[in-house]
Amino acid sequence: MSVLRKLAVPLTVAGGVGVLLLLGGVLFNGTVSAMINQSHGRVGQPDLRTMRLVNEGRNVFRGDTFGDQAVWGGVLGLHKAIEGAKLGGVGPGVSPKTALALGLKVDSARIPAKVAAAIKAGKVNLDDPKVTLALLKLNAVVGVKGFFNRGGTLSSVGITCALCHSTVDDSFAPGIGRRLDGWPNQDLNVGAIVAAAPNLTPLEQSLGVDEATLKKVLLGWGPGFFNAELDLDGKAIGPDGTPHSAATRIPSAFGKDGQNLHTWEGGWGSVTYWNAFVANLEMHGMGNFLDARLDDKTKFPLAAAAGFGHTLPYVGEGVLPVPAKAQGPDLITEALRPLDFYEHWLPVPRPPANSFNHAAAARGKIVFDGVGRCSSCHMGSLGTAAGYNAVKPSQICIDSFQADRGPDGTYTIAPLQALFTRSKRGFYHDGRFKTLLAVVNHYNGCFNLGLSARQKSDLVQYLKSR
Ligand code: HEC
Ligand code: HEC
Repeated sequence: MSVLRKLAVPLTVAGGVGVLLLLGGVLFNGTVSAMINQSHGRVGQPDLRTMRLVNEGRNVFRGDTFGDQAVWGGVLGLHKAIEGAKLGGVGPGVSPKTALALGLKVDSARIPAKVAAAIKAGKVNLDDPKVTLALLKLNAVVGVKGFFNRGGTLSSVGITCALCHSTVDDSFAPGIGRRLDGWPNQDLNVGAIVAAAPNLTPLEQSLGVDEATLKKVLLGWGPGFFNAELDLDGKAIGPDGTPHSAATRIPSAFGKDGQNLHTWEGGWGSVTYWNAFVANLEMHGMGNFLDARLDDKTKFPLAAAAGFGHTLPYVGEGVLPVPAKAQGPDLITEALRPLDFYEHWLPVPRPPANSFNHAAAARGKIVFDGVGRCSSCHMGSLGTAAGYNAVKPSQICIDSFQADRGPDGTYTIAPLQALFTRSKRGFYHDGRFKTLLAVVNHYNGCFNLGLSARQKSDLVQYLKSR
């Protein structure tokens, strides 16, 4: 009874009928957990709706290709490159070693204990594409889904969101471990993977370039980078004359709740807008998509020509969704709700306690909120602005190349949560600043802050602690 009395005191202070109901629930079920459930669902019941949405969303995020195998396998023939000539495909094939070198990750939870032991004992030939096929069959290659013929050869291959927005914790071996959903895959070489496809003709045609040029572009992105607007505006070369500077870092997919505008450019819209965009126009899944802004022939010449602003589900035939060829079901729209929920539900990871200097970080926070003026844009724990969270390029003293590729000519105020999960390929959209100190030095000049060396290093420790 004393526990209940202790509970009853603050509850009574809160007052009202709710308290009586709450206490009724506690007494009726006789457990405090029932009271906790009260805030989420009916007394005594776990929150089934939340659990269902999380599960569905996780399945979509990790496993749903939205039918995009029609393009990645069907059109580009990537499954043939994975198999290699010996197994009925083309070329040398993709061994597990090659796959890991391309930045692909392996989910250790999908590997049976016996196989894991054999790998540890060095009894599995990691140079053999057959092993890659076995891993695909186990659904162990993060973000890649194999489709198999009866005889065990690959009939196609598709990709999922997890390809770019998940990594693993390397607990089994480098590149092999438990999944970390929402963490950007900073090692993934998307360009090199696409360039390995046997049939690049549709991409060459849509961009109006020859094979050699296309490959140069794709191989120029580098690990952790992707040019998500290339198929809209055809801009393959960035401000410094390289394909790398026209690509952006793959961002995290966690910590987006409470944030208004997304992507590096911002003007596109919310997470759920971008999910629909990516599933339809980047992964080339089968779905409906509507955005009349993409009819702008000057800004988005390729998207306008391909009718990207008005896609319908389609099957095969060319790499672009062609409305005239519309057939087949919409595999995307119904997945958007759980997908959105899952991303917002994903926890923001905390940096390891020993990865920064705590005293310096505490001092750095004072600089961040004070003379550094950082929190005028990076507010609170959101790390981005409450409200319209994007700025013009001149406000942060950088060029407008990437901003101009989005609808509003802006850069999103990057949320600064869990920077430790995405520090490998530099900072800002194109990774132009290799270190956090370089970012701070940039602001010091841009805003004429006059920070001391000590203030700068404290600020860096604070950023690492977020
Ligand atoms: C080929 C790699 C790739 C795949 C696959 C991919 N994304 Fe992304 N994603 C990116 C890149 C690159 C950006 C940044 C694009 C930009 O800002 O122009 C991005 C941006 C995002 C953002 C905005 C993040 C932010 O910081 O505001 C979200 C959310 C997102 N993706 C979710 C998804 C979902 C959901 C899927 C699956 C339907 C998916 N992505 C598939 C590479 C990928
Ligand atoms: C005027 C608004 C504004 C102010 C003030 C501002 N930032 Fe930023 N910050 C941005 C924008 C916008 C970006 C994204 C730039 C891009 O995408 O290239 C950004 C990006 C960053 C990044 C890189 C994040 C990443 O994922 O690459 C860091 C770190 C950062 N800011 C720290 C700071 C610090 C420290 C200060 C104070 C000295 C500060 N910012 C002040 C707008 C601002």
